[in-house]
Amino acid sequence: MAQSEQPNYDEAKVPDYQLPDPLMLSGGKTVKDAKTWQQQRRPEILRLFEEQMYGKVPAGTIQTRFETTGVWENALEGRATMKEVTATFSNGSSQQRMRMLMFIPQGHSGQVPAFIGYNFYGNQTVHPDPRIPITDQWVNNCEACGTEDHRATEKSRGFRVSRWPVERIIDRGYALITIYYGDIDPDFDDQFQNGIHPLFYQEGQQTPAANEWGSIAAWAWGLSRAMDYFVTDPDIDEKKVAVIGHSRLGKAALWAGAQDERFAIVISNDSGCGGAALSRRRFGETVKVINTAFPHWFAENFTQYNDREEALPVDQHMLLALIAPRPVYVASAQEDLWADPLGEFLGLKKAEPVYQLLGAEGLPVEKMPAVNRPVMGAAMGYHIRTGQHDLTAYDWEHYLNFADQHFFPTLQQQPIPSR
Ligand code: GCU
Repeated sequence: MAQSEQPNYDEAKVPDYQLPDPLMLSGGKTVKDAKTWQQQRRPEILRLFEEQMYGKVPAGTIQTRFETTGVWENALEGRATMKEVTATFSNGSSQQRMRMLMFIPQGHSGQVPAFIGYNFYGNQTVHPDPRIPITDQWVNNCEACGTEDHRATEKSRGFRVSRWPVERIIDRGYALITIYYGDIDPDFDDQFQNGIHPLFYQEGQQTPAANEWGSIAAWAWGLSRAMDYFVTDPDIDEKKVAVIGHSRLGKAALWAGAQDERFAIVISNDSGCGGAALSRRRFGETVKVINTAFPHWFAENFTQYNDREEALPVDQHMLLALIAPRPVYVASAQEDLWADPLGEFLGLKKAEPVYQLLGAEGLPVEKMPAVNRPVMGAAMGYHIRTGQHDLTAYDWEHYLNFADQHFFPTLQQQPIPSR
């Protein structure tokens, strides 16, 4: 039966559903040890997400060159050095450029842990420093930030400071790296004529095949290329990189973290449908709705599950399970029903058996916590805060605390305000 076009926000109308078991091999056997998980079930689940949902990155060789395209000392009143590193991807005939804006604690000793996350409107929006290059790529029109015909203007400088507490992140001892997501693929449906996708086309190919990548998988791919760079950067401790994303970029962060085990911590902020929220609940945004509104986000194969969530061979708890045993944090917002807060919580909770199999702790609560009552175990964290769909200083504060447990364990005894 086709679902109604109105989103369901009534818990009583959530259909009965049965989740696929992350610990059952496709042949029906139960995974009982870490080795079978790692060698058989994890690859199986990865393939399913690739083939049926996000799409796989096509084989193809492209060259990547990293170049430091700017260094600015004494940013943030002397607390950080800003650096821009440009990755140029080339297939021999076409190129695509990704600009990474890095804030690095100035005068730090040794290598520092880092957060990496995409931004929505250009690197210049995360901080008002006038030296940050304004993106020259296509951007979504946004009246409040003065976009003119899909081009960013000076007016957008610092437009998104509320989402990027850069000073706080630096003062807590972390580097922050941010990238404009449109550098990898501008976020509109053009049948993949721009962005990174065409660099991978075989001769005569016009669009990705039905099991090949959409935009979310491309954004995830870009995060892994940034990680390739961190391995070579003397300032960054590549073993201590947390990947974070809000909303559609939370979906991309999860898919990047699921595939690429070099990301030590994965953080999903209000990622909703196609992110941390269980699809089978059909609460708020559904598979059909997301595939219709954003036909370029997923592989074409994913449209087979429009109004047929129960037929999916995976659900989003399995995406979170792919991160195990690495620490993962999921956050929701009370008014963000579109993203299904309870579905996000359950996505995390239902990944627990895999964490436990691998000797990691689950979430230290059984039920969804009350608003503004974060829960944090050693490997899983969750909160739902008051307010709307957004990435806020409150969210960041808990991500920093969670990251500290892993990256600055000796600081755990000290009260946070003293740092
Ligand atoms: C839309 C979309 C969501 C997405 C959100 C965002 O609301 O339906 O799936 O997470 O945009 O990226 O802000």
